[in-house]
Amino acid sequence: MSSVKIAPSILASDFVRLAEECKAVLDAGADALHVDVMDGHYVPNLTIGLPVVESLRKEFPDAILDVHLMIDNPDEFAVKYVEAGADYVSFHPEASRHPHKTLTSIRAAGAKASLAINPGTSLSHIEWLLDELDMVLVMSVNPGFGGQSFITSSIEKIKQVKGMLESAGRAHDVEIEVDGGVSPVNARELVEAGATMLVAGSAIFKKASYEEAITSIRNNTL
Ligand code: DX5
Ligand code: ZN
Repeated sequence: MSSVKIAPSILASDFVRLAEECKAVLDAGADALHVDVMDGHYVPNLTIGLPVVESLRKEFPDAILDVHLMIDNPDEFAVKYVEAGADYVSFHPEASRHPHKTLTSIRAAGAKASLAINPGTSLSHIEWLLDELDMVLVMSVNPGFGGQSFITSSIEKIKQVKGMLESAGRAHDVEIEVDGGVSPVNARELVEAGATMLVAGSAIFKKASYEEAITSIRNNTL
């Protein structure tokens, strides 16, 4: 079986029944919960924040919480999300004044540090930060909403990220996460390109059986 990790994006869940939804995907084989934090400024959508991450940590002490910050001031908030219980914190380098410092602070606070790269963002943003990264999040849609179509140029970008990590001798300890429009249809190509963690919102939460949905993504990455 492929060792790819699958992180359902709770943005696509029913927020009124959030705990039940999270338990259901964890029971169905999810490796992590992907938590999309949006501030209505960096992206044109407003979702959830620190209190929800704190509550998730209390309710699911052993779950891996993968927090994706789509906010204007990640330098101010990143460590607060670690303190709230995040295991991974990703932020967007264009929104950060001091990405090196913020990555270092996330690690010092005890979480994995990650930069998220939009479809239009150059990989030069991560070039000088490879030693500070535990994960690179390659966005395969423009951030802001679930349910968008996968942007195919992301495949080439994943390959380039993998190449950069290989050249830096970090290919084995830095995850490559792909987020946006992931489904059983493209899962295999993503993993072949270098993805080690797949985020999926609609492809899981909009299906009747979460277990079948997760298994179907996993089976297509074998
Ligand atoms: C988009 C978010 C994604 C999104 C994925 O801004 O970062 O995590 O929820 O949803 P799907 O899988 O439906 O594209
Ligand atoms: Zn996300």
